[in-house]
Amino acid sequence: MLKAKPFVKWAGGKRQIIDKLLKLVPVEYNTYYEPFVGGGALLFELSPKCAVINDSNKELMNVYKTISTDKGYEETLKILNNYEKKHDEAFYYKIRNIDKDKVKFSKLNDYERAARTIYLNKACFNGLYRVNSKGEFNVPFNKKLKINTYDGQNMTLAYVYFQTNKITMLSTDFEEAVKDAKKGDFIYFDPPYDSENDNTFNSYTEDGFGKEEQRRLAKVYKELSDRGCYVMLSNHNTTLINELYKDYNIHVINAKRNINSKGEKRGNVEEVIITNYEVDIEFED
Ligand SMILES: C[S@@+](CC[C@H](N)C(=O)[O-])C[C@H]1O[C@@H](n2cnc3c(N)ncnc32)[C@H](O)[C@@H]1O
Repeated sequence: MLKAKPFVKWAGGKRQIIDKLLKLVPVEYNTYYEPFVGGGALLFELSPKCAVINDSNKELMNVYKTISTDKGYEETLKILNNYEKKHDEAFYYKIRNIDKDKVKFSKLNDYERAARTIYLNKACFNGLYRVNSKGEFNVPFNKKLKINTYDGQNMTLAYVYFQTNKITMLSTDFEEAVKDAKKGDFIYFDPPYDSENDNTFNSYTEDGFGKEEQRRLAKVYKELSDRGCYVMLSNHNTTLINELYKDYNIHVINAKRNINSKGEKRGNVEEVIITNYEVDIEFED
């Protein structure tokens, strides 16, 4: 079966460690939950029949919701074809700056907003999603003169996947998103990264995700584990994460990171994948 791949480039996207994640996924489970879905690398790879996906980023979740309906899918692609023709630096800033006018922005319909989000993702620097304190998208142009905003076959695969399976889409806080998870369900948490020092790029939305949020997430992890769910979580190999999840199985892996506020810090960073169930595996590289 052909599977879709992420249709947006997303900070912390998991395509690079997907093989390692797959080795740690439980053999069988009921509903799949991904409360920090981002680009949805693991979601598409597993393509579960029943899933609950969530991200606090409303514009991102509007893309998922829109392209899963007939009209939304068709209209979004129509607009993107038009944007590709008009694409240049001035056009990028024209589309980017729509959210500076709150009234104009509120008049966009779902597929105009979805097309804008996909277009900005493909035409902005490094596929970053960053907004200022007023909630206005502020990532600069990536200077590419020609862009492909979507891969036709991939978009169709994503649309068909959403149409033919039972996928609930939410845009709320992670804790709310998993409240109905039951024994036998599988939850994969991929939160914004923790860092030993606090200058790593991790403000995906207006809210940010600090140490207190990491602690709150660890409590939710424990509650779900005690409820009999399978729970997997990825993060950096930091002191805090090791302390918070010391009662579970911590698998250390190497991952290449591309997005960092300081260029010189790019490179290999140790990541951990934590499971509340035993998996007999050791990663060597
Ligand atoms: C590391 S990214 C997820 C990457 C994703 N697994 C992928 O493969 O592309 C973390 C995501 O968490 C979202 N987020 C941040 N705070 C959140 C919260 N409190 N509840 C839900 N989602 C949140 C961000 O918008 C971001 O998309």
